[in-house]
Amino acid sequence: MADPPETGLRLDVANLLRPHLEGGLDPERLDSELQDRFTSALEITIRRREAGEMGFFDLPYARDTAGRVQELADGFGQWFEDVVVLGIGGSGLGAIALAHALLGPGWNARDDEARDHYPRLHVVDNPDPATLHDLLGRLDPARVLFNVVSKSGSTAETMAQYLLARRWVEDGLGEDQARGHFLFTTDPARGALRRLAEGEDIPALPVPENVGGRFSVLSPVGLLPAAVCGVDIAALLEGAARMEERCRVEDLTANPAGMLAVLLHEADTGQGRPIHVLMPYADRLRSVALWFQQLWAESLGKRRDGGGGTTVGVGPTPLASSGAVDQHSLMQLFMEGPADKVVLFVGVEDRGEEPLIPDCHPGVPSLSYLAGHTLGALLDAELRASAEALRRRGRPNATLTLPRIDAGSLGELLMLFQVATVLAGALYGVDPLDQPGVELGKELTYGLLGREGFDAPSLDPGDPRWVL
Ligand code: PA5
Repeated sequence: MADPPETGLRLDVANLLRPHLEGGLDPERLDSELQDRFTSALEITIRRREAGEMGFFDLPYARDTAGRVQELADGFGQWFEDVVVLGIGGSGLGAIALAHALLGPGWNARDDEARDHYPRLHVVDNPDPATLHDLLGRLDPARVLFNVVSKSGSTAETMAQYLLARRWVEDGLGEDQARGHFLFTTDPARGALRRLAEGEDIPALPVPENVGGRFSVLSPVGLLPAAVCGVDIAALLEGAARMEERCRVEDLTANPAGMLAVLLHEADTGQGRPIHVLMPYADRLRSVALWFQQLWAESLGKRRDGGGGTTVGVGPTPLASSGAVDQHSLMQLFMEGPADKVVLFVGVEDRGEEPLIPDCHPGVPSLSYLAGHTLGALLDAELRASAEALRRRGRPNATLTLPRIDAGSLGELLMLFQVATVLAGALYGVDPLDQPGVELGKELTYGLLGREGFDAPSLDPGDPRWVL
């Protein structure tokens, strides 16, 4: 094994390996056959990167784009009190993950001074009428900027919400004023949003052609909402660049993305452990787990050639969990349920200054042992205890540790998972960049709603006997 890094994010995989984990993977395989598998996955990935297919690798170095984002965020973005991002899937989850991690969950509840006069941020992904109407009911159209985010520029959920938002601003301010309250983030050349931006002179940021939704968090998709609220996006990108370099290393045991991809792929395909749980012990990282869930699922859950004219479905099932909350919920299942899971914990080394738990009841031993510790120390102890408890039951787990929750560490973490995902795609023999499985549902929806070019589908009528 290579020496752990002196700074930055650390990945500890001992609890996946023998002798630490009984029945764990033999570490010698990391120097032989798993190294070979990794080498070919890395080669496939490098080839695709060099062919210009994997633009996310280059985002940390796209200084011009980051500069344009910063300029818009510092200028235009600061005219508003509320910024509403409309985007779904990869066009929403990255912004949510960054906002929760770097602004904190209570951002919108803070007063102007506590927010340093940066705007409040709302990311609306699901087209649930209750959510959008409730939000609009609380906002003043004169003070809102809508950042409409859609790579394709045609996603039904996002476009429907855009149309409602547009009419709401027009009703409030008049048609002429309305367009000044929109900023689009979309494909640089194609799609309805791009055409509208050009036709109506609405500012529009590009999502590079070779960057797909779930790999776009470090493009203007994630950067603009973060920058508009004062996040240091240069530090975010520097962190991502640091990790991108660490993940170029050809020695498997020194490559954190390689180790994640190889060990999780082997857990699924070689050890019958297809459920991959991401469990951060920090509320601010809860949404990173949801972002990872989409990345891992939509990239790796695919139909693959099974030989002899057949196809097989492959891919792991990610599960976003949260420590310590799920120690009182899912952990029972992780400990004693089917042995089909790997738990990836995420801890934080430095949680900042916090008060010590006071000794209000010195005569009550079941309370007083907590005194003198911090809540952060409690969470850390629970993480370590959970990892050890799982290990003692022969349940594989690994721990990622962030030095602290800041822009640089987030950049490292997000890049780590993205590189691990494309390497895992190569190991599974699938294309991690596409999502053909979601098309049929979209086409049926278009048909049901009467979109031009899509026939009304005949849905299976069901059977009243089976409706209870
Ligand atoms: O990861 C993906 O490609 C998808 O989840 C998309 O982000 C999602 O479907 C939204 O697409 P669009 O950005 O085109 O609106």
